[in-house]
Amino acid sequence: MGMRKIAVAMAKGGVGKTTTAVNLAHGLALAGKRVLLVDCDTQAQTTTFLGVSPPHGLYEFITGRDGNGKTVLKKEAIFPARQNLWVLAGGIQLVELKHWLGEQPRDQRHAVLRHSLTPKNNGLDYLIFDCAPGWDVLSVNILMAVQEVLCPVALQGPAVEGLKTFFGYLISVQQLNQSLRLKYILPTMFDRRTRQSRDIYNQLRRLFRKQICSPIYHNVRLCEAPGNGKSIFEYDNNATGAKDYRKLAERLIDDAIRRQDHPGLF
Ligand SMILES: Nc1ncnc2c1ncn2[C@@H]1O[C@H](COP(=O)(O)OP(=O)(O)OP(=O)(O)O)[C@@H](O)[C@H]1O
Ligand SMILES: [Mg+2]
Repeated sequence: MGMRKIAVAMAKGGVGKTTTAVNLAHGLALAGKRVLLVDCDTQAQTTTFLGVSPPHGLYEFITGRDGNGKTVLKKEAIFPARQNLWVLAGGIQLVELKHWLGEQPRDQRHAVLRHSLTPKNNGLDYLIFDCAPGWDVLSVNILMAVQEVLCPVALQGPAVEGLKTFFGYLISVQQLNQSLRLKYILPTMFDRRTRQSRDIYNQLRRLFRKQICSPIYHNVRLCEAPGNGKSIFEYDNNATGAKDYRKLAERLIDDAIRRQDHPGLF
C-alpha cells in the first residue's frame, strides 16, 4: 500500500492536535512504520515536543531556499528526529511561507504543498501533519495534500459547536480535493469524573459511528512529556496516555491492512 497522508486538524485551539500528532507519529514509528511528521504551526510545538531543533523545515522544503535566499534541497529540510521518524519543522518562518503562498497565482496557490510533496519513491508509510488552529492559506494547502483527516475533539466545553465550524471548512476543500475524507474522530482529554466528558463522548459515538476512535483519557503524563522533549512512550511507557496512543496507532495500522484485503471498498 502507498503512503498514507493524514492531517491532524481542528480549527479550535488547545484540543490536543500536537499531542496527538507527535505521539501517534512516534507510536507508528515504534511499530516499525516510516513516518514523516510535518509541523504546520508558527509556534514550532511539534519539534519542541520532541526536543529537537532542526536547522531547516517546511519553509525551505516548499520554497527551495532559506531566509537568506540560499538554496536548500528538500532532503536537507527533512530532519531525523527518532528511528523511523523524520520531521519537517514549522516555526515563525511559516509566517513568511504564508505570504509566499499568498503571492502565488490564485488558481495554483492552494495546491503548492500537494505538488511539492509528490514523492518519487521515498519509502515512507505515513505523512502526518500537525495543523495549526484557525484557518488560512496553509490549512487549505494541507487539506489539499492529504486524503485523511483525524480530528481531535476535547471532551469539554462546547466541543460539537467547534466541529460544525470545522466541517464547513472541510466541505469547502472537498470541492477541490475529492479524495479528502474525515477518517477519524478522536475524543481527547476524557475526564472520567465528569458527566460532561461522558455526555460528549456518547454524542460523538452516535454522530460518527465509523470514525469514532477509543478516547484519549486526561493524563498528566501527557502534559509533562513535552517539557522533557519526549514522546509519551519515552517519558512513561506505562502511563494511560501511552496505552491510549498505542491503541490509536494500532487502529490506523489495522485499517491499512484491512484496506489491502478489500481493495475498492473504501
Ligand atoms: N489527554 C490529555 N491529557 C492531559 N493533558 C493533555 C492531553 N492532551 C493534551 N494535553 C495538554 O493540553 C494542552 C494543549 O494540547 P496540544 O498542544 O496538543 O493542543 P493543540 O490542539 O495542538 O493546541 P494548539 O491549537 O494551540 O496548537 C497541552 O498543554 C497538552 O500537554
Ligand atoms: Mg498544536
